[in-house]
Amino acid sequence: MSRDNQIIVGLDIGTSKIACIVAEAAEDGRIDIVGIGTHPSKGLRRGVVVNIESTVESIRLAIEEAELMADVDIKKVYVGIAGSHIRGYNSHGVVATKNGEVTDEDVTRVVEAAKAMNIPADQQILHVLPQEYIIDRQDGIREPVGMSGVRLETRVHVITGAVSSAQNIIKCCNRCDLDVSDMVLEQIASSEAVLSQDEKDIGVLLVDIGGGTTDLAVFIDGAIRHTAVIPVGGDHLTNDLVAGLRTSAREADTLKKKYGSCMSSMIMSEETVEVPRVGGRPPQSMPRQVMAQLLEPRMQELFELVREELDRSGYKELVAAGVVLTGGSSLLEGTQELADEIFELPVRIGRPQQIGGLVDVVNSPIYATGVGLIQYGYKYRTEQQNRYGEDKHSGGSMFGSLKRWFGG
Ligand SMILES: Nc1ncnc2c1ncn2[C@@H]1O[C@H](COP(=O)(O)OP(=O)(O)OP(=O)(O)O)[C@@H](O)[C@H]1O
Ligand SMILES: [Mg+2]
Repeated sequence: MSRDNQIIVGLDIGTSKIACIVAEAAEDGRIDIVGIGTHPSKGLRRGVVVNIESTVESIRLAIEEAELMADVDIKKVYVGIAGSHIRGYNSHGVVATKNGEVTDEDVTRVVEAAKAMNIPADQQILHVLPQEYIIDRQDGIREPVGMSGVRLETRVHVITGAVSSAQNIIKCCNRCDLDVSDMVLEQIASSEAVLSQDEKDIGVLLVDIGGGTTDLAVFIDGAIRHTAVIPVGGDHLTNDLVAGLRTSAREADTLKKKYGSCMSSMIMSEETVEVPRVGGRPPQSMPRQVMAQLLEPRMQELFELVREELDRSGYKELVAAGVVLTGGSSLLEGTQELADEIFELPVRIGRPQQIGGLVDVVNSPIYATGVGLIQYGYKYRTEQQNRYGEDKHSGGSMFGSLKRWFGG
């Protein structure tokens, strides 16, 4: 089937679910969601593929569902990457401009210079994200091309990830006959979908609480300054319920979503829940408050880990726009209120923004990464087309690194 508009597909390979989201991007920048396929994910642990067979199977089913709904043949995807192997560094590069005026080539060279750092042999660069340019000691420049000066500097945030983890993601996609257009750090994708430009300019902390991990990204002055991964997510909350209520993981997850809360003080003492039990025993009635008392300490612990990470980053005083929570676990009742108490900053729940089409279907923090992958893909491509023409790629992407990994 041929369509005038460009089809862009985001594939979020999460610990809990695989989400394949299909969009049509029009010339004027409008992005319409036209299809979605989701399937529970079984082959991942804490954001990393640990079983290729099960991951491939889940991806295939999610893709098929999305293809059917959007009536397209999916060949290429923007895919997310996450996990504790991800590292973020701030780096710096300096070059002399060739003609006393900054050109595209000078910018490429200075970004290359900033990339020249010691990274472990089993890690590979995923993103090089320029924060600012400095020309002859004048800092805070975002668009240096065309400006006069002899000394060009840049500050960048470099993100690296384990070569093997990235290879496994690509392998899974290839096994489903999918090409990977680009691989994007999941919290960067989520931030495309849920943060406004104003928030990024003013200073904001994005917290994507998934099933296996919680992914952080700090933006100040419009650029990414700090990234981190905390290996705790909603599955830990579910496991606490399994242990505390003596029920199955599946039941515990359903109960958590339906009746769970991490603010026990918000629950009336007379509210009760029927808890199904294992081994054919009859269900047990239990106060909702007891369930909340099991969930609250874990969520509190998670937010304290996030706060410590923010303190360590040195940007705590600068995130004036506050905290945006996203990912499936931000849907737990009481999450925003608990975060309000712990961070003492404005907190909101982030859902995908600035999209059209099947908005209602993806209007959930669960789809932040999937929708964000599409928005990243669209932005990245248009930037390339505007700046270099069709087939050149800048330091902003890891397309070059994909080729390096696979000798292409
Ligand atoms: N309504 C809800 N209330 C509470 N928790 C929820 C709700 N809906 C989903 N969750 C939880 O959110 C988690 C899944 O979130 P999400 O889909 O963002 O994860 P993922 O992207 O698959 O995982 P990860 O990003 O960690 O690899 C699960 O732990 C699930 O139990
Ligand atoms: Mg996720």
